[in-house]
Amino acid sequence: MPKVLVAPSILAADFSQLAEEVRRVEKAGADWIHCDIMDGHFVDNISFGPAIVDLVRKHTELPLDVHLMIEHADHYVPRFAEAGASSITVHVEPEAKHDVAKTLQQIRESGCRVGLTLNPETAYELLEPFLDKIDMLLVMTVHPGFGGQSFRAEQMEKVKRAAEWNESREHKIDIEVDGGINAETARVSIQNGANVLVAGTAIFHAKDYAEAIRELRGISA
Ligand code: DX5
Ligand code: ZN
Repeated sequence: MPKVLVAPSILAADFSQLAEEVRRVEKAGADWIHCDIMDGHFVDNISFGPAIVDLVRKHTELPLDVHLMIEHADHYVPRFAEAGASSITVHVEPEAKHDVAKTLQQIRESGCRVGLTLNPETAYELLEPFLDKIDMLLVMTVHPGFGGQSFRAEQMEKVKRAAEWNESREHKIDIEVDGGINAETARVSIQNGANVLVAGTAIFHAKDYAEAIRELRGISA
């Protein structure tokens, strides 16, 4: 069993004290910091851009896991790499308006880890041609755009398929889940083969971040 990594999504943090929030989750045991980038086109919300990623970079030693929910990701990859992203994950859907293979290569050449993701409505088959070109598959367990939504258990089918694919490979990909992750849905995700948990609400709306992170890992306080 690989170690389960926890990546708090700062979308749910208190932006009036973002630097402090990032330091607090680092101290609480977070493994990565998840940055949700939304452009108001690919998803129906707007979050933040490279300037905020750059600010976060200055306040933590942790890897920054940048999730681009944007059109034309290829245009912005260099700016997020420059801002300090450690991994960059892009969407496979045609609505994201980019050449997926080229963008994955571009992320690789930027020195970041390469991630690919798909919406709950999107068929797993769409990303299969890219599996040997990525370091991480992100399975969205809510429709992207907003924090605080309910986990979609039927997406575990995709997690299982990715885990099966991993079994036959020497170079394993990380399997990350994002959306509606709490202690209970984390357990389900891990059981199905996920090893990276993104959580916004479950961490930043908790009183004790360290306890929330331990609960996600399945360690009771
Ligand atoms: C959804 C984002 C998620 C979101 C998770 O569009 O990609 O990362 O912030 O938030 P919670 O954990 O609140 O569902
Ligand atoms: Zn995300």
